[in-house]
Amino acid sequence: MYCYRKVMDDLYWVGANDRRLAMFEGVYSVPDGVSYNSYLLLDEKTVLCDTVDAAVGTVFFENVEKVLDGRHLDYVIVHHMEPDHSATLEELIRRYPDVRILCNSKTKTLMKQFFTFDVESRVQLVKEGDVFSAGRHELTFVNAPMVHWPEVMMTYDKTSGALFSADAFGTFGALNGALFADEVDFMRDYLDEARRYYSNIVGKYGTQVTAALKKASGLDIKYLCPLHGFVWRKNIGDYIDKYQHWAAYKPEETGVVIAYASVYHHTENAAECLAIRLREKGIKTVMFDTSVTPPSEIISAVFKYSHLVLASTTYNAGIFVQMEAFLYDLVEHNIQNRTVAVIENGSWAPTSGKLMRELLEKCKNLNVLNETLTIKSSLKEDQLSQLDVIADAIDATVPKKTDVTKTDGKGGDTDTGAPVLDPKAMFKLSYGLFVLTAKDGEKDNGCIVNTVIQVTEKPNRIQVAVNRNGHTHDMIKKTGVFNVSILAQDATFDLFKQFGFQSGKSADKFADFADYSRSANGLTYVTRGTNALISAKVVQEVEFETHTVFIAEVTECRVLSDVPSVTYEYYFAHIKPKPQPVEEKKVGWVCRICGYVYEGEVLPPDFICPICKHPASDFEKLQ
Ligand code: FEO
Repeated sequence: MYCYRKVMDDLYWVGANDRRLAMFEGVYSVPDGVSYNSYLLLDEKTVLCDTVDAAVGTVFFENVEKVLDGRHLDYVIVHHMEPDHSATLEELIRRYPDVRILCNSKTKTLMKQFFTFDVESRVQLVKEGDVFSAGRHELTFVNAPMVHWPEVMMTYDKTSGALFSADAFGTFGALNGALFADEVDFMRDYLDEARRYYSNIVGKYGTQVTAALKKASGLDIKYLCPLHGFVWRKNIGDYIDKYQHWAAYKPEETGVVIAYASVYHHTENAAECLAIRLREKGIKTVMFDTSVTPPSEIISAVFKYSHLVLASTTYNAGIFVQMEAFLYDLVEHNIQNRTVAVIENGSWAPTSGKLMRELLEKCKNLNVLNETLTIKSSLKEDQLSQLDVIADAIDATVPKKTDVTKTDGKGGDTDTGAPVLDPKAMFKLSYGLFVLTAKDGEKDNGCIVNTVIQVTEKPNRIQVAVNRNGHTHDMIKKTGVFNVSILAQDATFDLFKQFGFQSGKSADKFADFADYSRSANGLTYVTRGTNALISAKVVQEVEFETHTVFIAEVTECRVLSDVPSVTYEYYFAHIKPKPQPVEEKKVGWVCRICGYVYEGEVLPPDFICPICKHPASDFEKLQ
């Protein structure tokens, strides 16, 4: 039975999912399946964008037939000749013998290699910049060589703003009924698979991906339609930002990937001892046994994090076989811009360290630390100091935030050790104002909220309502943790401006702000003009039209000062600058919640109050 979805007016997804495939390209496990996307445009001319893998041909042809609804298929655009998108092209020709094929000359060459049908008579060659009119829709072609094969091109539909991006922006994972990335929590549930897809499939070709992204940056993209995974129609910039990091081999997060190869657990033991030392310094670590975890997963982690530790035993006078396979793969994927440390083991002739260093010499911009450790069979007490030295060397290369010891904050330095749990901090809650902070990767952000309340004492839970349009909201959604800094009466108006009058989507609110520290969960909290800190971990979410209410378990709470909390009343009476007397009557809108005045005859329907974050519906016209 056909099984298609509408993308927009006259564009349909006619692809299919495969959940039986064990190994994509025979190399990459796909435990959550994979989708093969094909799109059918019903304009004056009917245009199919790519076909699908042979494994899912049956439903694909049912979809095409149903969506065409008796119409003739005029054109098929072949963006990529790899068989996961073109294997059913020959069958398409059999079913629709008059269809014309739009493709570039490299595609035509490959098509002749793969198929026996008469390619020459059917192909209509296009090149970069050519415009093809399907009627209402004007399509232009953009070459994207080596993303992932040399013939790859993309098509931009100027009329709808859809970019058919071929393999770019794809992900592993079947669609499971969803089509759009905004129908799922992509950043939480699919980003890891998107990164694994990117790093392994096109990770080697960062330069070419960067070139394609540069071309795409000049387009007004409203829909991103890749050949695998979800269609993007919202927050497209967030996904493009990930691609820019990956293509430039820039880490998304500070953290250390520890990949080890160990026959009898002794090398593993050294790796664990190093991991503990790094964690004690507050550095994130992830560990992989190269004998257990496939290279594709470790490579994906290396693309995510800033540092790499390689610990390998010596085997047959070389690098242990699984570590060697991983390293060859990593080097082939062109990894760059990472700091690397090496540990070797060898009972009589340890050589793996030297050999791993030699392999890494092929990579650009790697900072391979001199600090190292050689184990003879097993780690000994007197070698622990060498692990300390490696941990210190790694720590020295970890980017640091603003030196908080120079602030006048009352919370002190970056906090270490066990979180404080002082119930008196909860007494500082009022119907007041708060700085809500969160962190996603390296990015800190915060906003002003007015809706923090304690829900229960045992367990100690609070709730906060956060506007869904805000950057802090998205960070909390993704990470599930946040801090509340309770604003006190010694807060000055600049604090409200810093966190309430600008968007974290476009501004780095902590870039020029020094009055903060970090709590045990690694998130920032404000140390000036605040009287308490509450750290919390989300346990439940409730969605409303404009806000998400996060119910969260308190993981840390402590008093920062004895200055009373700011209430709304106090804020208006003593902190908010008084409006200057005006001769003329103001034309504008006033927020019924906090009194903020928007000046202007027409209040934009999507306006959000910069103070209390309430929507336009909470404003009334000034009388
Ligand atoms: Fe999805 Fe390069 O094929």
